[in-house]
Amino acid sequence: VIRAGVIGDPVAQSLSPRIYNHWFDAVGMAGRYEAVHCEADRFEETVRRLMAEGWQGLNVTIPHKTRAADLADYRNPEVEQIGAANLLLFRDGKIIADNTDRRGFARSRLNPQYVHYQATQGRARKAVVLGAGGAAGPIVLDLWGLPEIVVTNRTFQKAERLADRFDEHVRSVRWEDRNLEVQGADILVNTTSLGMKGQPPLEVDLSGLNPGALVVDIVYAPLRTQLLQEAEKLGFFTANGLTMLVYQAVPSFKAYTGLRPPSPEKILQILTREL
Ligand code: ATR
Repeated sequence: VIRAGVIGDPVAQSLSPRIYNHWFDAVGMAGRYEAVHCEADRFEETVRRLMAEGWQGLNVTIPHKTRAADLADYRNPEVEQIGAANLLLFRDGKIIADNTDRRGFARSRLNPQYVHYQATQGRARKAVVLGAGGAAGPIVLDLWGLPEIVVTNRTFQKAERLADRFDEHVRSVRWEDRNLEVQGADILVNTTSLGMKGQPPLEVDLSGLNPGALVVDIVYAPLRTQLLQEAEKLGFFTANGLTMLVYQAVPSFKAYTGLRPPSPEKILQILTREL
């Protein structure tokens, strides 16, 4: 029996067990995927205990992604660059850190209408990333290659530290100045927890975005956040956080089982209907 799970705090709200257990069933494999609640000071001990119990690995979520990268014996180059991991694999008593969030994000910006717009109207030049927590690094990495990427975060130091991991195309700016930076941007991504059920709303002025801009929210509860509603109203392309969640799980499932999960679109539809 394959055993794996997602470790975080809070974690009860996580949809990951639904996704993986659906895929275990679909491929006819005996597997059990659980949400593991764990506070920061017990992270290492808990990871090592589950490894000793024969688990294949763990997905890592708030607030442990940095800690997970630090704890690992081996890190893939992306983890090394962004300093955060969302996947720990246990192999022969060693911990290997990977980050699949980038692949999830890459998939979520493949909104077909947006891709078409890009192809016909010219390429995106500027992206604004709101937040510099564990989810922001892989997104900046994926956007890297655009001429201008701006990272803004309530705690400015964290934005600075993240930008320092890249080159001069990535700048950090203060949270108070975010609306200025939105002017003329082609991509805006919310990586903060603002706008999530039970959290304060995200306040950002989208009116200065370029026509045909893409707005991505990694929040998926609710699925249509205020940010995405506002973006739709203004005629921008949008992508919600569920796509990223499902598609970051694809390579993780493969790492646990050696199998590609069948039809990610199916579980995406099921969860979309429920949310
Ligand atoms: P994750 O791993 O999901 O990124 P995280 O590392 O705790 O979680 O990051 C949460 C993000 O939401 C951070 O960018 C955080 O800003 P700080 O670094 O200043 O904490 C942001 N965030 C949370 N509450 C916020 C609020 N009330 N206003 C502005 N930003 C907020």
